[in-house]
Amino acid sequence: MCKRLAFDEGTDSVSPMTSVLPSTEWWRSAVIYQIYPRSFADSNGDGMGDLLGIRDRLTALTELGVDAVWLSPFNTSPQNDAGYDVADYCDVDPLFGTLNDFDSMTSRAHELGLRVIVDLVPNHSSSEHRWFQEALAAPPGSPERDRYIFRDGLGENGELPPNNWDSVFGGRAWTRTENPNGSAGQWYLHLFDSTQPDFDWDNPWVRRQFEDVLRFWLDRGVDGFRVDVAHGMIKADGLPDWTPSSAGGSMGGAGTAAGADVSEAAAADARAAARAPFWAQEGVHEIYREWRKVLDSYDGERILAAEAWVDPLIDMAKWVRPDEMHQAFNFPYLETPWDAAQLRTVIDASINAFSEVEAPSTWVLSNHDVVRHASRLALTAENPQGHGIGPESAGLPIPELGLRRARAASALMLALPGSAYIYQGEELGLPEVIALPDDARQDPTWFRTNGERYGRDGCRVPIPWEADSPAYGFGPSDAAWLPQPADWAPLARDAQRGVEGSTLTMYTLALALRRAHDLGDGELEWLDAGAETVLALRNGDVLVYANTGASAVVLPAGEVLLSSGPLGDAELPADTTVWLRG
Ligand code: NOJ
Repeated sequence: MCKRLAFDEGTDSVSPMTSVLPSTEWWRSAVIYQIYPRSFADSNGDGMGDLLGIRDRLTALTELGVDAVWLSPFNTSPQNDAGYDVADYCDVDPLFGTLNDFDSMTSRAHELGLRVIVDLVPNHSSSEHRWFQEALAAPPGSPERDRYIFRDGLGENGELPPNNWDSVFGGRAWTRTENPNGSAGQWYLHLFDSTQPDFDWDNPWVRRQFEDVLRFWLDRGVDGFRVDVAHGMIKADGLPDWTPSSAGGSMGGAGTAAGADVSEAAAADARAAARAPFWAQEGVHEIYREWRKVLDSYDGERILAAEAWVDPLIDMAKWVRPDEMHQAFNFPYLETPWDAAQLRTVIDASINAFSEVEAPSTWVLSNHDVVRHASRLALTAENPQGHGIGPESAGLPIPELGLRRARAASALMLALPGSAYIYQGEELGLPEVIALPDDARQDPTWFRTNGERYGRDGCRVPIPWEADSPAYGFGPSDAAWLPQPADWAPLARDAQRGVEGSTLTMYTLALALRRAHDLGDGELEWLDAGAETVLALRNGDVLVYANTGASAVVLPAGEVLLSSGPLGDAELPADTTVWLRG
């Protein structure tokens, strides 16, 4: 149970923090900047980013021109999955500071006009959470065990896991417990690491706890929640065995494509039947309808954003029906290669699917779980989400090509109507860090696959602020929880600030133009691009041309508002996006 602010306890000495910012369906067009607290800014020199570090660096984000920040988890946690293993949902881990630091950071953000979205991890807790420790100590069948998914094992002595499910991070999704007398006991389910037991969301007790958690943070003035694994909380009855088809990434996907000659309803049924029994089950929607009521009872348009890896987009759109969440991360867009035809298809599919349920489309190219797009867009070998890249990976990117494409892709993304997400450091053009030493890696994926998958550390390296300071100004000492590359000085924010042609300048200009021309609330119209490799569109009075091909094309006439790279003489070079006044 979360201890809420004093007004909850019958005194009126403290009033709930209101979201002081005006509510105008801001989330439909907002640019939301993802802060990964471990790696954003460190105030005390221990090598780990923290809340006061964030607070003191927020003006860099207002200067960049974003509308909101989303913070990955900073709750109490043993950090087995970098904080996505929560041991207390209503407190701050000492690594990141205190609840007072959180309040101070939030007030500062609001003062600066930035909204604050926090991460909520409801699919699983940490195995160190009191609720799970109590469940382990209680006997099978007890109310404590019913909070999580405990089952007897199969086989003569229960020595086999209850079903064949695998963990997203590799290995099986079940771990056997030990009884107090030392004998082997029941098994518990964990779709992720063994230290992340899944809750049983069919249990009303679990639902009540999380309503309290929502209110706890809403009372503190947060503007919304990014909901982790929002497609995973309900499991199919009976927990049936499941063998994945080759389609679909580790976090979900449709499994099979339905035939073209069946009705949409029949196709949707076929997709649902092919889906893993732990992803995208109908029952999750009821949870979000309840949550939406809680959020709507607060002022200031607080929002829910779903991390739901559900394909295709028409199925993902169910998460953002009018009485459910506000936004869902557009992973199909993130996963689309730098290719005009495929981009056009996914952009159309996104706008159609989301507008069908009156939700905005969102756009995202990078986050803390994927290879940074300044590297990913130039990979030449297949690289499934979550596997990461390292020194021995096949098809490693050419850095200059990756950066050129990333800038062009970002310039395209920021011109699209809807809401866009930026992952910290992409505005600096940061690449994935490939050469991390093995002993520095921390992602559970790395350990659970015995190093077969590098995992996600390469996109989580502390970001550079000052070219000439220790740890590039990440904090006051030279400590950084993951080593920063020796050649990052030119990428530091102060080395790029105000410098013509820098990636930071491009992002800053794009966001200013996006706001001035109201692109987030605009409408997209495709134009004849004149070449197959080029995407051409109009959003209001801005024309956008993105050349995804390997050779230059003719640059249409017009006043250039923004360019992702140098323009040739009347030419739009390869891997370049330009905005023209329409
Ligand atoms: C998705 C989060 O983004 C990722 O970082 C985490 O490992 C898994 N969910 C499990 O919580």
